[in-house]
Amino acid sequence: THVDWDVSAAEKGGFPDFMLKEIYEEPRTIRDTLAGRMVNGHLQFDELSLNYDELAAIDRVYIIACGTSYHAGLIAKNLIEAWSRIPCEVEVASEFRYRNPIITPSTLVVAVSQSGETADTLAAIRDARIKGAKVFGITNVVGSPVARESDGVIYIKANKEIAVAATKSFLGQVAALTLLAMLLGQLRGGLTTAQIRMLFREMADTAQHIEQILADTSAIEEAALACKDAQNALFIGRGIGSTICYEGALKLKEISYLHAEAYAAGEMKHGPIALLDEGFPVIVVATKSPTYDKVISNIQECKARGALVVAIATEGDEEIKKHADHVIYIPKVRDCFSAITASVPLQLFARDIAIARGCDVDQPRNLAKSVTVE
Ligand code: G6P
Repeated sequence: THVDWDVSAAEKGGFPDFMLKEIYEEPRTIRDTLAGRMVNGHLQFDELSLNYDELAAIDRVYIIACGTSYHAGLIAKNLIEAWSRIPCEVEVASEFRYRNPIITPSTLVVAVSQSGETADTLAAIRDARIKGAKVFGITNVVGSPVARESDGVIYIKANKEIAVAATKSFLGQVAALTLLAMLLGQLRGGLTTAQIRMLFREMADTAQHIEQILADTSAIEEAALACKDAQNALFIGRGIGSTICYEGALKLKEISYLHAEAYAAGEMKHGPIALLDEGFPVIVVATKSPTYDKVISNIQECKARGALVVAIATEGDEEIKKHADHVIYIPKVRDCFSAITASVPLQLFARDIAIARGCDVDQPRNLAKSVTVE
């Protein structure tokens, strides 16, 4: 008899699509990316063949990347500046390469690329090296052009990512960039060894937090169903929360073709609030953070204009239920690690909407997994 052997179904390991499978691989991505990085209480980056004097002399960091990788950079900027006090800029590679950025031998350029072969990112690396910068690559692909052409590389250990829209590789990038921020913080005296150990342990714990999020996704599904017929959506947050919003909005655009924008919540009153009317979906990252109260005020402003508010909130926060229409709870973590945990429900939210709208989540129209041409 003829056996209808669907190779692709087998590769999906029982999941309906690669995107969902890859989201469920996120706890493993975190664990694998961190494995071997902390030895006897010290951060380990053998493959960077670090010259610590050179690294301690760095006075400027540029993170260059495209797409989702750029968003990982936005998160890292916050951590690098907070912990090392070294000025850090994040720039899309296609802009960086065509202007004249300030590069000296004490500039560190960090190129972030899942595929390691994005044309604009590669061109930016080449330019930066000619101008004398030290270049670190952060990539998922061993031996890729980004790895080969950088002075050092940190691999993110996400394994092969097949869905066009990046998910697990994004979390791996955030984890790897956080390690780099910790290293710079340690070299510049902004973090003690004890703090490094504590941060490392807490970051490792996010693997379990993600498992907990994945164990019950019903609130995410409900919120997605409420938003699936919208024409537009707005993602707002503050601090680390605002950076996650850019990625949440990108995921939704990419796979559901719903127009989505991300804004720092404080900017709402300078324009985007004019868009709001009855039922307009506003997704708010409202986890516990130093700006939590400000975010609650932003939610109230949205509700007063009839918006449909979906809040990503910290477990145990009962107050938020009074303000938001839908609340998606995630485990409590230090603010900097909410970038990892809060991204998971945003990815699932985008996928649920895309599926409800009948879209092919693995292969969205007009998009390619890696863009090797300009
Ligand atoms: C494409 C992909 C995105 C990705 C971007 C950058 O646009 O569709 O998912 O974020 O390229 O790719 P890279 O491999 O450099 O991270």
